[in-house]
Amino acid sequence: MPIIRLRRLRRNQAVRDLISQARLSVEDFIMPYFVIEGRDKKEAIKSMPGVYRLSIDNLIEDIKEVKRLGIKAVLLFGICDKKDKMGSESYSKEGIVQRTISQIRKYIEDIIIISDVCLCGYTSHGHCGIVKDHRPQTTDHRQKKKVSSQVCGLKSQVYIIDNDATLEVLAKIALSHAQAGADFVAPSAMMDGQVVMIREALDRDGFKDIGIFTYSAKYASNFYGPFREALDSSPSFGDRRSYQMDYRNSDEALREIEEDLKEGADLIMVKPALAYLDIIYRAKQKFNVPIAAYNVSGEYSMVKAYCHRLQTSDFRPEKELVVEILTSIKRAGADLIVTYHAKEVAKWLK
Ligand code: PBG
Repeated sequence: MPIIRLRRLRRNQAVRDLISQARLSVEDFIMPYFVIEGRDKKEAIKSMPGVYRLSIDNLIEDIKEVKRLGIKAVLLFGICDKKDKMGSESYSKEGIVQRTISQIRKYIEDIIIISDVCLCGYTSHGHCGIVKDHRPQTTDHRQKKKVSSQVCGLKSQVYIIDNDATLEVLAKIALSHAQAGADFVAPSAMMDGQVVMIREALDRDGFKDIGIFTYSAKYASNFYGPFREALDSSPSFGDRRSYQMDYRNSDEALREIEEDLKEGADLIMVKPALAYLDIIYRAKQKFNVPIAAYNVSGEYSMVKAYCHRLQTSDFRPEKELVVEILTSIKRAGADLIVTYHAKEVAKWLK
């Protein structure tokens, strides 16, 4: 007969609750929003049932509700209808996100405003940085080889994403968000040096208390599809693999995080979450900082599609499934979770 019976601690719900380790709390959630021009707009995003593009007025109402549910922070993405090659609308004082931030500030107290800082929603080509054509001009064979090893792209179109030129723009975007009233700016372009560049720009302008919530370990993932539909931000050529991380690597994620912390990041993020729990775990073991995980659009859509398929049977597992997924992200070590499920889970946890 066994002496050790692990099942004693699973005997009933009360005992299970007593000893449970990872627990979800509404304070852990950050609610992402897509904001569009216009009034009283609420556009469905086909691949993300339950998620909408909202005009500022509707967004304000939604945030009021989310705040009542106990959620402390929102993450904003703007849908821009004036895209150009350089993404110049991204730092306009009158841009969609800048106006949204100041309106939220005006009408809602005590909500933490985090704004995404990237170019992909503002550039006509959909890349997260400034694109430079880069056809090797030289006839010198050795030189040519060197140039082409620096570039990524299709055979017909050789281009690079210009890191340092992009940094200038990211700093301008971050500053414009801070001026509008953001609490944290969230650079997601995966350019080297983006955190320090933004830190310096903010400090120069007196925004010493505005934090940087950085997407440190952001992978070139296939889970971003629905988001790109929402934002109309798919790259029109090539892909993001020369700046976002290769999903075969994990040591590199720790280096990314380490660099961001050295550059002055306040909060760091791993993204996506579910297929990257090992990265969250390693990051938490190694660094004593709050770690956020982004439960991205494709993860959300998978759950919705799965549950939709199961609707025909009596088994309706959505709540349990979502809670299991989010709890596993916390168990791996995340302190905060950006998730499109935030509002529904906040209701369930009430
Ligand atoms: C922009 C950005 C992306 C996401 C957040 N910021 C997409 C991308 O890199 O293409 C994805 C979020 C999601 O899928 O929910 N750089």
